[in-house]
Amino acid sequence: MKISIINGPNLNLVGKREPEIYGTQSLENYLQLLATAYPDVQFTFFQSNVEGEIVDEIHRVGFDSDGIIINAGAYTHYSLAIADALSAVAAPAIEVHISNVHAREEVRRHSELAPVCVGVIAGFGLDSYRLAVEALDAIQKNG
Ligand code: DQA
Repeated sequence: MKISIINGPNLNLVGKREPEIYGTQSLENYLQLLATAYPDVQFTFFQSNVEGEIVDEIHRVGFDSDGIIINAGAYTHYSLAIADALSAVAAPAIEVHISNVHAREEVRRHSELAPVCVGVIAGFGLDSYRLAVEALDAIQKNG
């Protein structure tokens, strides 16, 4: 199974950024351990602070991956371009968030991406990414 994990703006600072919200472990370190825990999964990892680069990455992997796990950061809440890119490709996508966006500011409750994703996982810290891997695995096995 091929899974592409795509991260948006400011997620490169997880570990240092607002640790009371996002924790103290870096995303890079977490994703390395995640890959080790799933030796049968072929992962690709991508992070960018630039909207168009995220769109390009979705185009690049979206016809070759079995699933996309996307944390688009703040773009989640307003990027029609990223939503359109997810709609355009074949791979099913799961939206993830480290924090529980529904327990935060009102603006974070809206997602442009959720309607074009299979589902949303939010609020489990970095473990949200592992839960999304499990969800894609179940989709592949059970349809
Ligand atoms: C986030 C939640 C977003 O609202 C925020 O802009 C982020 C991180 C999360 O993972 O909890 O950058 O996507």
